[in-house]
Amino acid sequence: RALAILKEFEEKCETPIGKLRQVADAMTVEMHAGLASEGGSKLKMLISYVDNLPTGDEKGHFYALDLGGTNFRVIRVHLGGKDKGVTNPDVEEVSIPHHLMVGSSHELFDFIAETLAKFIHSEPEELHPPPGRQRELGFTFSFPVRQTSIASGTLIKWTKGFNIEDAVGEDVVEELNKSLEKVGLDMRVSALVNDTIGTLAGGRYYNQDVVAAVILGTGTNAAYVERAQAIPKWHGLLPKSGEMVINMEWGNFRSLHLPLTEYDQSLDADSLNPGEQIFEKLISGMYLGDIARRVLLRIAEEAEFFGDTVPPKLKIPFILRTPDMSAMHHDTSSDLKVVANKLRDILEISNTSLKMRKIVVGVCDIVATRGARLAAAGIFGILKKIGRDTVRVVEKEKSVVALDGALFEHYIEFRTSLEGALKELLGEDAAKSNVIEQANDGSGIGAAMLAASHSQYL
Ligand code: BG6
Ligand code: GLC
Repeated sequence: RALAILKEFEEKCETPIGKLRQVADAMTVEMHAGLASEGGSKLKMLISYVDNLPTGDEKGHFYALDLGGTNFRVIRVHLGGKDKGVTNPDVEEVSIPHHLMVGSSHELFDFIAETLAKFIHSEPEELHPPPGRQRELGFTFSFPVRQTSIASGTLIKWTKGFNIEDAVGEDVVEELNKSLEKVGLDMRVSALVNDTIGTLAGGRYYNQDVVAAVILGTGTNAAYVERAQAIPKWHGLLPKSGEMVINMEWGNFRSLHLPLTEYDQSLDADSLNPGEQIFEKLISGMYLGDIARRVLLRIAEEAEFFGDTVPPKLKIPFILRTPDMSAMHHDTSSDLKVVANKLRDILEISNTSLKMRKIVVGVCDIVATRGARLAAAGIFGILKKIGRDTVRVVEKEKSVVALDGALFEHYIEFRTSLEGALKELLGEDAAKSNVIEQANDGSGIGAAMLAASHSQYL
């Protein structure tokens, strides 16, 4: 019975190449629709007001705040222009206490401002700006924001387990400024960016061939460089560069071609944002572990898989985290010791047989493979949209997609599966000129660079 449930789940999750192509095509179609008009698609295709990516000439000390991944970070870097590069990065990392993720806007922003204030107050004298000059800051805020300029924008909705009602519709920078004032910090936010935009900017600084950035972490999303003329909903002046960076918010993509199962439906229904972020719920680190838990729960209930009572812990949402799922998936020991220990320590299930552990690994494999291959389809959709999905005519011209996020970085099976699927989609030859590269920690540094290129002192 357990095997039958597993088999049925596997079939429903299948992502043969034909299906991936359909998903990629649907992504391209939605990209067009989202660019054509506001509200034209589930894909918001948000205009970032970034029409120039860093060149490497940026200079000075700049700061960045990074909110929306696993940890909140405060960053200071010194940008030394082309010859000296980025030096002396200093990073302070803290996790956001859960009550602040679902509390009130001022509590969250006060916490951010206080952390920043501590960081600034511990700075050595030589880093103090000359009198009359403000410190400048890039704010990476990794949620959907309708930008009104490079340094302002209103929050459309929360994602990834944050839910602070009174912040929705408010200007994120104004909220931060209010809290900065309370702690007596005189700093100016000169760029408000999504993490995908920060990663794209950071990636481009190191490699001029970077055309897009994808985050695979707690959540998932992508940004890319679009021709300004291909954005009918943009009514502003045409930028000199002729380009505009778009934050797709692809986590909210959905399509009839997505292989959704009953487990995904129940996860969605129980979530803080039912009906939203469907692509994200299939792919990203916040959810993969919980999909696996839901499948194991059903096997426990219907096949008495873990004995005649259902282990109570297995009923607790999010108890099985993606890093633990990853550890079980990568267990190479012959008796699957890691799997046994995780089941015992997290779910309080002991005395598992090897056969049972194999089924658990099977569940992890199905969930991770589906997510990884769908992410590859999304990337292929973007490359198609910008005409970079085929063999480059101009010799040696490359398209690079910068990837960041803990899921891509640490979940090796996920990453391998994604890379394999992308190669399948592109074909051997085109895969040579379209590559993905890890852009570790690019987002904070990218935000600092954008703060520099939008400095009030230029
Ligand atoms: C980091 C970026 O490296 O990756 C963040 O700087 C981003 O801006 C994060 O949000 C995503 O990672 P995770 O895995 O912590 O959600
Ligand atoms: C969520 C957010 C998005 C962010 C992504 C990755 O999808 O809505 O803005 O880029 O997570 O962190």
